Amino acid sequence: MQRIEIKDLQKTYKDYADQEITVCGWTRTIRDSKNIAFVELNDGAFKSVQIVVEKDKVSNYDEIVKQNVGSSFSVKGLLVLTPNAQQPFEVSARQVTILGESEADYPLQKKGHSIEYLRSIPTIRPRSNLFNAVFRIRSVAAFAIHKYFNERNFVYVHTPIITSNDCEGAGEMFQVTTLDLDRVASSGKVDYTKDFFNKKVSLTVSGQLHEECITHAFGKTYTFGPTFRAENSNTTRHAAEFWMMEPEICFCDLDELMDNEEEMIKYVISYVMIECRDELEFLNKFIDKGLIARLTNIVENEFVRLDYTEAIEMLTKVKDRFTFPVEWGVDLQSEHERYITEEIFKKPVFLKNYPKDIKAFYMRQNDDGKTVAAADLLVPGIGELIGGSQREERLDKLTERINELGMNMEDYAWYVNTRRYGTNVHSGYGLGFERLVMYLTGVSNIRDVELYPRTVGNILY
Ligand code: 4AD
Repeated sequence: MQRIEIKDLQKTYKDYADQEITVCGWTRTIRDSKNIAFVELNDGAFKSVQIVVEKDKVSNYDEIVKQNVGSSFSVKGLLVLTPNAQQPFEVSARQVTILGESEADYPLQKKGHSIEYLRSIPTIRPRSNLFNAVFRIRSVAAFAIHKYFNERNFVYVHTPIITSNDCEGAGEMFQVTTLDLDRVASSGKVDYTKDFFNKKVSLTVSGQLHEECITHAFGKTYTFGPTFRAENSNTTRHAAEFWMMEPEICFCDLDELMDNEEEMIKYVISYVMIECRDELEFLNKFIDKGLIARLTNIVENEFVRLDYTEAIEMLTKVKDRFTFPVEWGVDLQSEHERYITEEIFKKPVFLKNYPKDIKAFYMRQNDDGKTVAAADLLVPGIGELIGGSQREERLDKLTERINELGMNMEDYAWYVNTRRYGTNVHSGYGLGFERLVMYLTGVSNIRDVELYPRTVGNILY
């Protein structure tokens, strides 16, 4: 008989009552009571299945019970309904084949390891309940994003990872080179014409500029891929390699952009709440007791839309409680963002119309000459989840700004050309996917929502 996956069995187990089935998986626990043993078998589904092994019903009882946790089994047995037990069914084993033994040093011997210990074993930690839940939610959330944009006629585009421009202008890029650095150091000079691409290139900090040009072919696009930042920020919210999802929409202003962001976030949360109920209940119990209530609250309530200038007024009133100064023109620190979302509004807040001097060159200048039509989405517990803006669609204003900032116009001519060939009011944003997963799971460190986190000073394997 063919193997049945445990996730499928959880939906259809009644159809198999008293029938013989085969399940495969890894042992989570093995409890031996001399003539009867209970094996918790997990095949990757969030919930495991209980296998009851009776000594007189299998030929290799003694061999089974001496196996270590983590060994892999194939079990043929009868599915028995257990309506009064915690789990609605179990499998009464008739034949247990040990597929792969697990050695005694298997790192997940017991339950309840600390999150820090689990972080030190990235190859194994997805086998724990916590990381099984987190990484499944990550997968389901990614799918929900694709579903949302697909249902709305967006085209999914793949922008390059290696780039010769710095989209955000912050100079936080990882350089890519095939030059022999030892030789460069001894010669004392760098000759980029000898480098692989004959020029200086880096890993992308955002696909936006490449994407924006392509959006002018399709009208609505999004990218979703790896992004790299050499920021020296050793915080719980910054990774050197993370995934960003960037929609770009033509004929769309800032208000319409915020509508899209709000609808998208609510859609993704609702989808995860339906598809990952067991995982969320587990996280709500063990990681963050307010998780489900908070997610429900987001889906059911409108986000706040607040001007940067108004936010500064609110923060100035309580400025003594902050470490960093508050005055018009400063970039808000996480303590300021948290105060706004967690204490004043207690829900997500779009902060909009920022001073142009703290934002990127491509953002549309407002008529006041001081601010740009940007909107960041700040959420309780995380801070900035999304950064977005209306793009400067006026050729003269955009070129003026590029020159004003001392950027090399030649490097950006290909991008500026979109303003010469059918320009239009258009907008876009970037969602930090790991931050969304943190929000969805209640996990408070970005290192615990990436399989193999890369952060400043830290790379395992
Ligand atoms: O606000 P940012 O820098 O925006 C851009 O890069 C735009 N070009 C996006 C666009 O409009 N298409 O970054 C967008 C989001 C942030 O809001 C944050 O959630 C996330 O990316 N982010 C990071 N996430 C993890 N680690 C880091 N080091 C991050 N830096 C930004």
